[in-house]
Amino acid sequence: MKKKLQDKLLLYPCPILLITSKFGNEENVFTVSWSGIACSHPEYITISVKPTRFSYNLICNSGCFTANIINENLLEIADYCGTFSGKNHDKFRECNLTKIPGKMIDVPLILECPINIECEVERVLELGSHHLIVARVVEKLVDEHISGTNLHESLNPVTYFRPNYYSLNKQILGVYGKTHDTI
Ligand SMILES: Cc1cc2nc3c(=O)[nH]c(=O)nc-3n(C[C@H](O)[C@H](O)[C@H](O)COP(=O)(O)O)c2cc1C
Repeated sequence: MKKKLQDKLLLYPCPILLITSKFGNEENVFTVSWSGIACSHPEYITISVKPTRFSYNLICNSGCFTANIINENLLEIADYCGTFSGKNHDKFRECNLTKIPGKMIDVPLILECPINIECEVERVLELGSHHLIVARVVEKLVDEHISGTNLHESLNPVTYFRPNYYSLNKQILGVYGKTHDTI
């Protein structure tokens, strides 16, 4: 039997990204967990952003942003960047984040994040409380010491399931395309 889900929960678990943006002299960083892979060829991702966020106008005015995947070490910073606004905080400075220049776009990447994705905005869907920003991936960078074979182990990923943050158990439960062997 089923009953109606009363909670605000939709999909879970959600990844945690630090999104950087820049327009003119203003730069900002904020936290997003409503995001997704939208297409693999060409590569697109989406982020859902409330238009009241300081970052929203920077992203829409410049037409670009970077998505930086956090790890466990950066969780406190992600929580801070998702609590305070760039309207009255220099979160890069307050969190001691190191900016490095983007390769394809004029928006700083976050050195401390193991994976950095540079994006160009292609569409904005004004859905309601949040606007869905559809963006083409123009560059992807990863820390030098991380290889394809040890990606998950090295990333130390965390996830958000309101109101908690969770670590991801490193136990492998199955392998893509091979977990159905006994069916
Ligand atoms: C874990 C976490 C996830 C969040 N996810 C989103 C999100 O997906 N979209 C959004 O608009 N705000 C999200 N927020 C809230 C913004 O990060 C927060 O309002 C932030 O202060 C906005 O910063 P800004 O005004 O400097 O752009 C999230 C906050 C946290 C802590």
